[in-house]
Amino acid sequence: MAFLGRRNFLKRGTIALLPTLLPAGKLMAADNATNAGAAPGNHAIKLFGDGEMFAPEAYIAELSNAFAATKFEQDRYGVGGAVAALENKFAAITGKEKAIFMPSGTMANQLALSVLSGDKSKVFVQDTSHVYRDEADAAQSIFYKRLMPLAPGETYFTAQQLQQSIDALAEAEVFETGIGAVSIENPVRRTNGKTVPLAEIKKIADYCRAKNIRLHLDGARIFMAAAWTGVSVKEYAAHFDTVYISLYKYFGASAGAVLCGSKEVIDKMPHLMKVHGGSMYGNWTNAAMALHRLEGFEERLQKAIETWGKISGALNKISGIKIAPLPGGSNIYSLALSKAIDGTKMHAQLNKEFNIKMPRPDEQNHSFVSVNETLLYQPADYVIHAFKTSMR
Ligand SMILES: Cc1ncc(COP(=O)(O)O)c(C=O)c1O
Repeated sequence: MAFLGRRNFLKRGTIALLPTLLPAGKLMAADNATNAGAAPGNHAIKLFGDGEMFAPEAYIAELSNAFAATKFEQDRYGVGGAVAALENKFAAITGKEKAIFMPSGTMANQLALSVLSGDKSKVFVQDTSHVYRDEADAAQSIFYKRLMPLAPGETYFTAQQLQQSIDALAEAEVFETGIGAVSIENPVRRTNGKTVPLAEIKKIADYCRAKNIRLHLDGARIFMAAAWTGVSVKEYAAHFDTVYISLYKYFGASAGAVLCGSKEVIDKMPHLMKVHGGSMYGNWTNAAMALHRLEGFEERLQKAIETWGKISGALNKISGIKIAPLPGGSNIYSLALSKAIDGTKMHAQLNKEFNIKMPRPDEQNHSFVSVNETLLYQPADYVIHAFKTSMR
């Protein structure tokens, strides 16, 4: 079988011409980078992360492609141009009245929870969530919210656990401060991309509605959940008052977030962004890139899943390697190697010889690998061949 060698692959397509313009040193530097994104035309398959994160030259080339396709215009302080187009697109995708571009997901989460909870101070979150663990206690120190973590170590809390915890407050605390909001992250990064079942989201949403508690979705990677569960982004979003989606984890932007919700909530955001220093003069580079990469994204991701099915199916027939989805998981898979295989050597050879970057196996010879659209840079047979060769 004729495998497309890396060099032959580079000869194909327009971006493939770029390496010839680059000094070898630059290519080497990009090759050695692990998380810096594919070098221009270098098109590494990255079995980590959720999608393409372009290095500067590739970013500029891709933004030029975006401009050639749509002749987008700049915004001013987030008004007009590519930003307005992005906001309209995401409002439609999520089925919400309005959307707003924000500089970061952290700001989107924090401002959404602050507005949704009003003067009530308690916000229920997953113990494993980004809001609870990775936002520098912003809710507590800047927004005067008391985060109430549920289900330690787990992907999600159930409606029953939420209800029990809220009911217990009546006994446990003297002063009633009110439940402001509930936040759900889906999928959950800290549990390797595991998803919250739609049936449980519905139960939580029903309970919250009955209690007049507002519900926020940290859907940084909601497109990953949608691709793996078959539940559309709109269906997920329908159960929440506000939804945040990342623009850089898999839509190629260098930063940014979009927050979607009712006009009433979203219209409060420009002022809040300004007073928190998040109102930036120009946002169009990120908005235009995300809009461009959104085009056809879901189809490409489905193809990547299909390709991964072929790859993992073939590799699982080889003794000493076991690839398995995680229960309730999305794009992160378990990859276990037997002791007979030198995982460190395999990792290095895949990178050096085949331009396939995967997380280095741990002491148990185990790794978590991620499926994303960079898999489409090569045919399934190329990846299968690369693994077989590197395992020897
Ligand atoms: C689940 C989740 N929510 C929110 C964020 C925050 O995004 P940002 O880096 O844009 O602040 C992240 C970033 O890693 C995340 O993984």
